[in-house]
Amino acid sequence: MSAEKIIQLNSSENVTQNSSYSRSIIELPQTNRLQYLHAKMRDKTASKSQFIYYADQVFRLLIEQSLELLPFSNMNVTTPVGATYQGKTFTDPICAVSIVRAGESMESELRHIDLKIPIGKILIQRDTVTKLPKLYYSKLPDNIAECKVLMLEPMLATGGSALCAINVLLEAGVAQENITFVNLLCSPEGVKKVTSRFPKIQIVTSSIEECLNEHAFMIPGVGDFGDRYFGTTDLGAI
Ligand code: PRP
Repeated sequence: MSAEKIIQLNSSENVTQNSSYSRSIIELPQTNRLQYLHAKMRDKTASKSQFIYYADQVFRLLIEQSLELLPFSNMNVTTPVGATYQGKTFTDPICAVSIVRAGESMESELRHIDLKIPIGKILIQRDTVTKLPKLYYSKLPDNIAECKVLMLEPMLATGGSALCAINVLLEAGVAQENITFVNLLCSPEGVKKVTSRFPKIQIVTSSIEECLNEHAFMIPGVGDFGDRYFGTTDLGAI
């Protein structure tokens, strides 16, 4: 996917749309610092603790950017010297839904930002051979239909898991335009699949990768995110 076909965030302004391709995907500005974090995280020699350390920092940037895109209203407070400060507060209730297992890795940074945001779960696992997703379980906040929903899933590869999860949210009454897909890495194939089916969903990612390989891994990618973050392979071992 060429650079002119995505929406880039401009660090000095807010959102810059470079083409009419899609309003639904935002890639974080590829700053030197972000590229440093990516290099440390993607390095195959990174230990489990290093991988978590750098991935969490990118999650923080992604969640903060995702929250910034939500509607805000004015909020006045009185300071200790009796003056009025006009700040902002979120207009709508917010919840998050993590796609187990990899999506749970994003919960910690979300909690650091705002402990009050409720977190639902959707358990989807891909068949290891066919790579087709299967829904096993979901538990969502009661008021999710009234919420702006942050869907936490670091990996968008073929798009099968994301489509499955989005369908669970829609069945629960969530409007497409109320879903922000908070994503670490996505493939052009996955982006196309999700945005063509659900054009009103907002995707916020830190990198649109080059392609998928024959094993449905993103290139250059990070390998198996869940295994590296949770330490279930030798590669992720400390
Ligand atoms: C991986 C990844 C995503 C999904 C993306 O999960 O964490 O959830 O695949 O792939 P897709 O876009 O092709 O559907 P996996 O099923 O390996 O489970 P895990 O989260 O337990 O690692």
